[in-house]
Amino acid sequence: MEARVTNHRSRISDENMNPDNPPRMAECRTLTTNEARAAGPIVRKFEAKDVEQVLSLAQKYTSWDATPTREDIEGFRYVNPEFFFVAEFNKRIVGFVYGRESNPPAEVLDKWKSRKVASVETLAVDEDCRRHGIATSLLTALFTEFKRNEVDLVTLSVPAGEKAARKMYGKMGFELRAQFLWKRLAS
Ligand SMILES: CC(C)(COP(=O)(O)OP(=O)(O)OC[C@H]1O[C@@H](n2cnc3c(N)ncnc32)[C@H](O)[C@@H]1OP(=O)(O)O)[C@@H](O)C(=O)NCCC(=O)NCCS
Repeated sequence: MEARVTNHRSRISDENMNPDNPPRMAECRTLTTNEARAAGPIVRKFEAKDVEQVLSLAQKYTSWDATPTREDIEGFRYVNPEFFFVAEFNKRIVGFVYGRESNPPAEVLDKWKSRKVASVETLAVDEDCRRHGIATSLLTALFTEFKRNEVDLVTLSVPAGEKAARKMYGKMGFELRAQFLWKRLAS
């Protein structure tokens, strides 16, 4: 499955576009609308050759409680390879998302009025390429695949400090279901 990213915005004028010389990843943030159409990221399924670049993005942007390892990334494609997508731009991986089917007990499914649940496990987009709709395109591809697999409810956890992610999920229709609290006790 492959899809061009379609949601993007201009940061430099369209005259700067040169179709024979597509922008490098470092210039991702300066993509114009035309460039994004012509050379913008492609969302496709994860392939074995992507592991290094995905690992590097995961370690840079998703090391909240634990640093993801190569084994974690390789493990994704053994558990639910159909739910593992990358965004590729100029032969570089600039974002990825991985989802997994969850198996809550029947009673929980009943309460949640759901037949099949899956979660967004991890998602990141390179800092230079943000606000071009890449995460939205990755999630759209993932949700299409979820639906094809009869998933009707999606859950996820997001660190409270990740304001961009919280905004994005809100925009995509996610509702707050619980909050994880903590308090440090004085020794
Ligand atoms: C969260 C993240 C994946 C968003 O990636 P992205 O490709 O920039 O997201 P999109 O361009 O698809 O943004 C979609 C919408 O989310 C909101 N949004 C995204 N980044 C935002 C920001 N920095 N500030 C405010 N709103 C933001 C906007 O409403 C945006 O739509 P708009 O640009 O049309 O206004 C990226 O910032 C990231 O990798 N963050 C670090 C890792 C992380 O938080 N992962 C998710 C945790 S589960």
